Amino acid sequence: RERTYIMVKPDGVQRGLVGEIIARFEKRGFKLIAAKLVSPPKGQLEQHYADLSSKPFFPGLIKYMLSGPVFAMVWEGLDAVKTGRVMLGATNPLQSAAGTIRGDYALAVGRNICHGSDTVENAEKEISLWFPEGIVQYSLLQETMIFE
Ligand code: GTP
Ligand code: MG
Repeated sequence: RERTYIMVKPDGVQRGLVGEIIARFEKRGFKLIAAKLVSPPKGQLEQHYADLSSKPFFPGLIKYMLSGPVFAMVWEGLDAVKTGRVMLGATNPLQSAAGTIRGDYALAVGRNICHGSDTVENAEKEISLWFPEGIVQYSLLQETMIFE
């Protein structure tokens, strides 16, 4: 089973979309194994988006991510990283398909309400960055109805 790091960004929290985003992952069949509302220190956000540090929008991105608490989650299931990205939609909401989270609830690339890991390797890094305390282990009773 693969794991991915999904985060509702400050605009998603402020707009009351935490429940909606959780519901979509739950209904799709993913298992929630970690979740918390946090106001991360600046250094943690800079580390999270370290790959983008040379981009012109980086300072604005960090300011946006510091504008309020975020809701951090780890979801587990089949092909969780790729499927999570598909559920989020394209980075720029103007190009996100309807039916995706960004395609249904966002308009601007700098206010795209959610984050999802882009590779399995980055998912592992992000999970240890955001959940150094570890995550919950349990078996989901409905799993035999979701996986063959
Ligand atoms: P995340 O799931 O947040 O990592 O988005 P992504 O993987 O779809 O895109 P990427 O990692 O390339 O960029 C991270 C975030 O930076 C995006 O989600 C946007 O919020 C922001 N971003 C990316 N490109 C631009 C841009 O051209 N302009 C602005 N203002 N923000 C951008
Ligand atoms: Mg990214």
